[in-house]
Amino acid sequence: MRRELRDGHGRVMRDLRVSITDRCNFRCVYCLPETEEAANFYRTRFDAVRNPNPASTVPLDYAWKPRHELLQYEEIERFVRVAVDLGIEKVRLTGGEPLLRRDVPRLVRALSAIPGIKDLALTTNGFLFGAQAAALREAGLHRVSISLDSLVRDRFRLLTGRDGLHETLSAIDVAQTLGFQPVKVNAVIIGGLNDHEIESLAQFARDRGLVMRFIEFMPLDSKRAWQRDLVVSGRTILERLADRFDLVPIEASSNPSETARRWRFADGPGEIGIIAPVTQPFCGHCNRLRLTADGQVRTCLFSLVEHDIRPLVRGDGSDAALADRLIGIVRGKESGHRIGQPDFVQPQRTMSCIGG
Ligand code: 5AD
Ligand code: SF4
Repeated sequence: MRRELRDGHGRVMRDLRVSITDRCNFRCVYCLPETEEAANFYRTRFDAVRNPNPASTVPLDYAWKPRHELLQYEEIERFVRVAVDLGIEKVRLTGGEPLLRRDVPRLVRALSAIPGIKDLALTTNGFLFGAQAAALREAGLHRVSISLDSLVRDRFRLLTGRDGLHETLSAIDVAQTLGFQPVKVNAVIIGGLNDHEIESLAQFARDRGLVMRFIEFMPLDSKRAWQRDLVVSGRTILERLADRFDLVPIEASSNPSETARRWRFADGPGEIGIIAPVTQPFCGHCNRLRLTADGQVRTCLFSLVEHDIRPLVRGDGSDAALADRLIGIVRGKESGHRIGQPDFVQPQRTMSCIGG
């Protein structure tokens, strides 16, 4: 019988997210806010006494991982090959900002040559994408997701800490011109910060024939400023969009682990999706596994434990030993996240280390 990555709840892993660097050239407020001011911009919008979040008073310090701790491309390739042998079909490269690593097309070429990979995707903030897009496509990248939280230059800068709207928009253009299909655009919606742009972002998707994903704000930011009140629920987002557009639900695909609920526009191209991990958790069907840039396997975005496989991929451990280790790790995958429960603890690492 073929060996699989099956967890203790009967879920079989098919989707691997590989962070290839923890570094980033952006400082998104929901991920790696640059300054206390940036975090406070939204932290202080709500009464901390009425709505306590004890963790928010303990800012996390982060330091980039030294380079020798990062997995080399050959090590990543080996891990992916073993994982694909165990049933992984989709691989997504993330960061930090993955394009800060040197020669990502070299890694893409190696991964796309692994027999059994059905889908190879990249998540990027877009800033460096334009210059490398053609090489990435040529190397065998199938799909790309680009983050875009605002269509207004100053708001974009406020949200990402960088004046990069122009570059991100041209990254989206280039991706479409090169024929990446579909081009997905991710927007994290935060109350009082960019929720007034929900409609214009959807309009942008409709005008351009893009797949727009609206994502609920999750407690994974480095300054621990997340507050429940800042989450704009998927339901609210949908109500707002349904008021403005004629939306037709897209049947859930045959893949029940799909995180987004999706709609198309009745009268044109483009698609919107809503990812609501906070208010409508989809953990029950989760088939995702994560590898951090420094070689830690995480079985959940919100895992409080990590499994160090670096010695195995780096040393002389055999592929068989690595496979056994992975099977063992996946068996202990947690049933789901506990956001909103009294015992919820924000993981030590932020999205920039874990990878979206
Ligand atoms: N909540 C929700 N999504 C997040 N991302 C990063 N931090 C958060 C957060 N706190 C998403 C961004 C980006 C992807 C890499 O991760 O949308 O597109
Ligand atoms: Fe923003 Fe992504 Fe960089 Fe985090 S990793 S700061 S979400 S661009």
